[in-house]
Amino acid sequence: MKKHNVLITGGAGYIGSHTAVELIEAGYGVIVADNLYNSTLAAVEGVRKITGVDVPFEQVDCCDEEALRGVFERYEFDSAIHFAAYKAVGESVERPLKYYENNVGSFVVLMKLMGEFGRRNVLFSSSATVYGEARELPVTESTPRLPATSPYGNTKQICEDILRDCVASSEGGVCGISLRYFNPVGAHPSALIGELPRGVPGNLVPFITQTAAGVRAKLSIFGNDYPTPDGTALRDYIDVVDLARAHVAAVSRLVEGRAEAGYEVFNIGTGRPVSVLELVRVFEDATGVRLNYGFAPRRAGDVPAVWADVRLANEKLGWTAVSPLADTLRNAWKWEQKNS
Ligand code: UFG
Repeated sequence: MKKHNVLITGGAGYIGSHTAVELIEAGYGVIVADNLYNSTLAAVEGVRKITGVDVPFEQVDCCDEEALRGVFERYEFDSAIHFAAYKAVGESVERPLKYYENNVGSFVVLMKLMGEFGRRNVLFSSSATVYGEARELPVTESTPRLPATSPYGNTKQICEDILRDCVASSEGGVCGISLRYFNPVGAHPSALIGELPRGVPGNLVPFITQTAAGVRAKLSIFGNDYPTPDGTALRDYIDVVDLARAHVAAVSRLVEGRAEAGYEVFNIGTGRPVSVLELVRVFEDATGVRLNYGFAPRRAGDVPAVWADVRLANEKLGWTAVSPLADTLRNAWKWEQKNS
């Protein structure tokens, strides 16, 4: 049987590289396209090492229509997963046009080419940020999206809408799924791929592992006066390998023509809220490393609590997050020790 190929834009990045591995292990062929803005060739090498497959890599900027058209001309694939995007929430507030141009621009180019070449299936990498400070918890896919609190968040909403509209239109001819990720954490158990933050990490887990490694002196826990059981914020931390497997399930759904309405949205999380303090404790217990931490004021723009209702993904995708948080954090620590 002919192998089904998947184009992965941003495939050298954190979630993209883990997804490449899981797709290959599930029997798919992958083509990685990435401009290496926020990623390295080492990640592609890591994917090759883990899978034993000489994954094709194309260094292209997805905003460059001619360059991306070349990829469409050179490879046969019916499905694309669009990860390529900038993701620093704070920077997006400072430099909104950079975010709109890259995140929205690259997706428009991809969608144009999907139509032009008659390629069918699109999976979009969205975020729980589209829910903002949701009034109902856990959030379901029909919980209303609220106006985005950052240009980054807005680009996720806009791209979801672009995909929805293209699926609905007669010129599109595509099927699409948006996956709304909660908080992706961890690394591949081989420690050959993982998250490589640029500069001072904004996200919690990389900051924790860097503090444990002595790269940072102290972890500041932002806010201990939230209306939560221990006063620290609640999030839904999803292991990156579990998250990658959700992409495999979603691609299979598209490939097998099971997407019911043409366009679908799924929350991808564990369904379990974990506080910042609890995460710190699980990290300490799992690794035996004591963390130097203290409390600091709330961080602007943070919501007190958000976690996923994952029943739709469980039912329709046949997918469930399975990794225990302790294992996930041990993998993050193993990856940090290799890199710092
Ligand atoms: N936190 C700290 N100290 C730190 C870093 C984070 O206490 O040094 C806290 C935050 O205040 C928050 C929690 O840890 O309460 C998680 O913070 P992250 O930055 O790791 O994750 P966020 O939930 O803020 O952001 C994530 C994604 C974004 C996405 C957002 C909303 O990283 O891309 O969820 O869904 F937009």
